[in-house]
Amino acid sequence: MNSNTKSIVIRGIGSSVPQQKLTNKDLSKIVDTDDEWITTRTGIKERRIAGKDLQVSELGRAAAQKALDSAGVKAEEIDLIIVATLSSEMISPATSCIIQEKLGCRAVPSFDLNAACSGFLYSLEVGKSMMLNGEYENALVIGVEKLTSYTDYEDRTTCILFGDGAGAAVLSKTDGEGLGILGCKLGADGGNAPLIQIPAGGSARPASIETVEAREHYLRMNGREVFKVAVRGMAQAATDILEKHGIDPSELKCIVPHQANIRIIEAIAKSLQLSDDRMFVNIQKYGNTSAASIPIALDEAKIERNFKKGDPILLVAFGAGLTWAASVIRWYE
Ligand code: UT7
Repeated sequence: MNSNTKSIVIRGIGSSVPQQKLTNKDLSKIVDTDDEWITTRTGIKERRIAGKDLQVSELGRAAAQKALDSAGVKAEEIDLIIVATLSSEMISPATSCIIQEKLGCRAVPSFDLNAACSGFLYSLEVGKSMMLNGEYENALVIGVEKLTSYTDYEDRTTCILFGDGAGAAVLSKTDGEGLGILGCKLGADGGNAPLIQIPAGGSARPASIETVEAREHYLRMNGREVFKVAVRGMAQAATDILEKHGIDPSELKCIVPHQANIRIIEAIAKSLQLSDDRMFVNIQKYGNTSAASIPIALDEAKIERNFKKGDPILLVAFGAGLTWAASVIRWYE
C-alpha cells in the first residue's frame, strides 16, 4: 500500500427529526385527499413538522452533535462544515455558520450548498475533494430541511409529500485506499429547472404583496414529469458509479435512496435487477425531507441492516435543478 494514499470515511452519523407528526388522516382534513391515495401513490403515512419555533440550525445542530458523538470526535476537532439545504434559516448568513457557532466549533470554513434533494451527496463529494486536497482532517456534512415552510397546504399535489428533519455525517481522513467514500457520480440538467421551483423569495421576485397573494413562495412541482426523469436519472447514475468501481449491484449490502416516492424506489430496484428488500425505505415515517432524506435514512439503515465494516453501500438521489447523484461507499464505522 502506498503510505501517501488517503481515504475519506464516514466516521460517524446521526439524525434528528421534530417530535410533531402530520399524518395522512390529518392532511385529509386540510385538502381533498385520503390515506389510501397517499399510501398507494407515495408510500408516505406521516411526516414530521418543525413548527414555527424549531429552526433548521437547531435540527442541524442536534443531528451533527449525534454524528460527532457516534464518531468520537469533538466539535473543536472539526475543520470544515458543509450544510446541504434548500430551506436555509435565512437568505444570509449561511445556516452552516449558525450551526458552527451553536456546536462550539472553531472559526473553520463553513458554507451552504444547494443541490436540493441531491445536496447531501453533492456535499459528500465536495467535502471529500476538499479534504483530499487540503489541510482538513475532519469535516461535518449536514443535510437539513424545513420544507414545511415552503409547502402550500392548499395544494394537494405537493403538501402530502414533504416533511422536516436533519441528518449529519462526520468525515475523517484516514490512511489507505478503498475505504469510505469510493466515488460519486453527480449531474444536473438546468433545462428541466421549471419542473420544481419556488418562484418567489429570491432576487428575481423578492417578497411583495403580489407574490404572497399569488402563493409564489411555495414549492411548485410537475410531479408526473419529475417522476419519469427521476427514475431514469437515478438508475443511470447508480449504474455508472457501480460500473466505474467494478461493483455488481448484487454485491451491495444495501441501497439507501432519496425518499421521494416508494414507486420510484421500487423502479430503481427493478432497473438494477434487485429485489425491493435491498432498498432501505423509511418514507412512511418522514415523507420527502429533501437534503436530509439520505443521511436520516443512512443513520437508520446502519442499525436496521446491521452494517459492518467494509460493506458496499450505494446512496442515490434526485431533486430540483434538476440534479442527481449516486455515491458508493464502503462502510467504515
Ligand atoms: O424530491 C424531489 C423529487 N420529487 C419527486 O421525485 C416527486 C416525483 N413525483 C411523484 O412522486 C408523483 O408524481 C406524485 C406523488 C407527486 C403524484 O403521483 P402521480 O401518480 O404522478 O399522480 P398524478 O399527478 O398523475 O395525479 C393523478 C390523479 C390526478 O387526478 P386526475 O387528473 O387523474 O383526475 C390528481 O389530481 O391524482 C390526483 N391527485 C390526488 N388525489 C388525491 C393528485 N394529488 C392527490 C392527492 N389526493 N393528494
